[in-house]
Amino acid sequence: MNTISDAMKMSASVANQSSFPLNQWYVAAFSGELTDKPIARKLLNQPVVLLRTGGGQVAALEDRCCHRSLPLSCGTVESGGVRCGYHGLLYAPNGSCIEIPGQERIPAKAKVTSYVVTEKNHIVWIWFGSEEGSAPTHDAPDYPHHDDPKYKFGWGVYHYDAPYQLIHDNLLDLSHLGYVHLKTIGGNARQHMNAEMKVTSEGNMVRVIRLMPGTPPPPTYKAAYPFGDKCDRWQEIEFDVSHLRIWTGAVEPGKDVIDDPDRGGFHMRGFHGITPETETTAHYFWSMASNKHPDMPETIDTVIEQTKYTFDEDRVVIEAQYKNMRQFGEQAAWTDIHVDVGAVRARRIIAKLLESSR
Ligand code: FES
Ligand SMILES: [Fe+2]
Repeated sequence: MNTISDAMKMSASVANQSSFPLNQWYVAAFSGELTDKPIARKLLNQPVVLLRTGGGQVAALEDRCCHRSLPLSCGTVESGGVRCGYHGLLYAPNGSCIEIPGQERIPAKAKVTSYVVTEKNHIVWIWFGSEEGSAPTHDAPDYPHHDDPKYKFGWGVYHYDAPYQLIHDNLLDLSHLGYVHLKTIGGNARQHMNAEMKVTSEGNMVRVIRLMPGTPPPPTYKAAYPFGDKCDRWQEIEFDVSHLRIWTGAVEPGKDVIDDPDRGGFHMRGFHGITPETETTAHYFWSMASNKHPDMPETIDTVIEQTKYTFDEDRVVIEAQYKNMRQFGEQAAWTDIHVDVGAVRARRIIAKLLESSR
């Protein structure tokens, strides 16, 4: 497992990519994706091969063999690194070629760019710095809920034919639940739209909190927890530049306090890594961790299944939105409404970061 301290190897710079905030940790993969096969993934316009060596080390390299440019993702993973699938050059996790079959001398220039990666809480993070070879300026984010025995989580990786910020917009405004997700986590649309929303910012983080006491539990909540006619729902959204943490759930009225940090009830802890692929496409890494009610222990899988269904619905909406934006011209004006406060703040943060890197 890599750590920030041993990650001082050469890190690629994407300084010429001003479309994305740099000096950030982005999600490259979930740990569970890295098995015995390399993965090809374009991240911030960079074709990258992700792999876990036989020794367990996670690595991210430029997806191009320095010999004749076959993608290294077409090769095979070995204990020492990845072997090109054309003429067998073997690359170590630091990008150096360490073996050329049939040739003793390895030229000094036989190497490819390696990226700084670190694996934490079942998430593989990749550092994109603004300078060639720049070391991370801060640790990769923590996400302890993946390792909390109180929860069980499932995950998925979606490709989006839409720019990354449209996914930010969607996640920062959960008023859409009552219109898009009626079959799962929706509920009463009017209550969503009328719920008081508290939006605060701190550095590059935006927090949106909405409380909806006395609301009918939506289908996923009822499937997972023995709620009566009403529940007290909460939504806490934390936006960070490359990912969001969304804690939602509900307590039984009168039994728990809706904003007690140690509240019981039914919890859905969503992790949302949003990594631009290009200016117009994105990778969406989601996970959902949920707790179990003692009388309904088997329902976590149902929650995760319904979450997947829910995020499928979001993808349909967002991709249709972007298709239409292209049809009408991306400069066609938008009209903001009251639910947009968090999303507008997040866009300001991204704009400020892009501006400061120019
Ligand atoms: S192209 Fe990779 S070894 Fe020849
Ligand atoms: Fe949604």
